[in-house]
Amino acid sequence: MTFAWAGIFAGCIVLSLYPSVVTRAIIPLSLIIGIGLPFNFLFPDYYLRRFGLPTMAELRKFRSPAVHDSASPPTRGAVAGPAVITSEASGPSRPLEEARGDAERITLTQRERRTIMKVIALNSSARGEGTSKTRLMLDALVKGMREAGAEVETIHLRDKKVKNCIGCFTCWTKTPGVCVQKDDMTNEIFPKWLEADICVYATPLYHYTVNAEMKAFIERTLPVVEPFMYRKDDRTHHPLRRNPPKAVVLSVAGFPEPSVFDQLTSYANFLFGKSLLAEIYRPAAESMTQPQVADTMNDILDATAQAGRELVQSRKVSDATLGRITQPIGGDYDSHARMANAFWKTCMSEGASPREFGEKGLIPRPDSIDTFLMIMSAGFNPQSAAGTTAVLQFNFSGEVEGSCHVSIENGKIVTKEGPATKPDLVVESPFEIWMDILTGKADGQAMFMQQKYKTVGDLTLLLRMKDLFGKGKK
Ligand SMILES: Cc1cc2nc3c(=O)[nH]c(=O)nc-3n(C[C@H](O)[C@H](O)[C@H](O)COP(=O)(O)O)c2cc1C
Repeated sequence: MTFAWAGIFAGCIVLSLYPSVVTRAIIPLSLIIGIGLPFNFLFPDYYLRRFGLPTMAELRKFRSPAVHDSASPPTRGAVAGPAVITSEASGPSRPLEEARGDAERITLTQRERRTIMKVIALNSSARGEGTSKTRLMLDALVKGMREAGAEVETIHLRDKKVKNCIGCFTCWTKTPGVCVQKDDMTNEIFPKWLEADICVYATPLYHYTVNAEMKAFIERTLPVVEPFMYRKDDRTHHPLRRNPPKAVVLSVAGFPEPSVFDQLTSYANFLFGKSLLAEIYRPAAESMTQPQVADTMNDILDATAQAGRELVQSRKVSDATLGRITQPIGGDYDSHARMANAFWKTCMSEGASPREFGEKGLIPRPDSIDTFLMIMSAGFNPQSAAGTTAVLQFNFSGEVEGSCHVSIENGKIVTKEGPATKPDLVVESPFEIWMDILTGKADGQAMFMQQKYKTVGDLTLLLRMKDLFGKGKK
């Protein structure tokens, strides 16, 4: 504004050098009345609106006693948290309280005026669609929310510029409520976040908590609070300028035990307090997309969409739905670890990243009888096995020695270590040869012709091996 007025006055001074009534009075007055004064009235509201803040007109309206009295008392304290996002009234000086009350009333009025719930869904995964498990889960949640009538905007933070907070506190002092950084956070995401009824914070679990992108976003919400401090419930709080949206935290992790989210849940509850509507955590997420667990994955994604619908309808997620979301994938936690280790060993020996592993259709190479039986179970194809009753026994020598067997009946498979009582087919092979065949490194028929392994019993079962155990193969 200073620059605009300086420009107008500079123009007037230049014009006054020419001695005439028009240049010394009429044009300068027209500039001041025609440009300067409208600019003075319109620019502050334009500026405040751009940053999602209440306009001067709204503040004036809500400060007038009549409106103040008739306004319903605000349901404050949506958020409890540490020093940053805080709650409730007790604390700072009265004028400050009033100003905060005004801002909250305006926020509530704007939100209440809406009939459609507005949701902002923030995805902080560094991975893109197709590989990100955070995104997989978030897409399902958003689908459910939309089905229930919410207006949802998903923002992938990897596509946006959100600089780190530089700790200058300009947003508390020189430009209250507005960050000094000029990036997507200030220009786009923060105003949208302020406007939303619910924010979904979707993050991969990195080192037991939110990842750096999500943390950077959270830190950049500092302008939502004022610098002052007050104590409530033995905790120090900052007063809120505006009520932030209610929070939903969604996270995925590599480790299989649900307790891997303990630190994150503690942080989320401390930060968001009462405004935390739900936490949706999916352990063992990297296993979700394995073809052999497709049914389980579909059920998990269905349940996540159901969670989205429940959130819009009742602002919470039922225990039954959360139970489905966290259901085990691919056996108990020990089996999960053994399979994961076989997967990583294969990645390393093949020089393939997890993404390339999937693209090449690789199979984790078993390194024990135990993992061999797991891979056989994982690859078992009930459709191909329909109507088949058979027992296949494997006697391994070489790298790993020992016997095991696989029983097929009624489209189901049971695996056991040790020999079977009445096997229909016995395969006798060096472990490493059979694993080469299993992982597609060697051709089973060629190895048979070269007598690298031997069989006793029903040879048709040998020929059907690929169909019976080829579920996961591309
Ligand atoms: C830097 C880094 C740290 C990780 N830390 C953990 C962890 O502490 N606990 C865990 O279970 N998984 C951890 N993981 C695994 C990720 O949570 C897992 O791969 C997740 O699926 C990634 O989500 P995305 O697919 O959306 O990127 C970590 C992964 C990376 C790259």
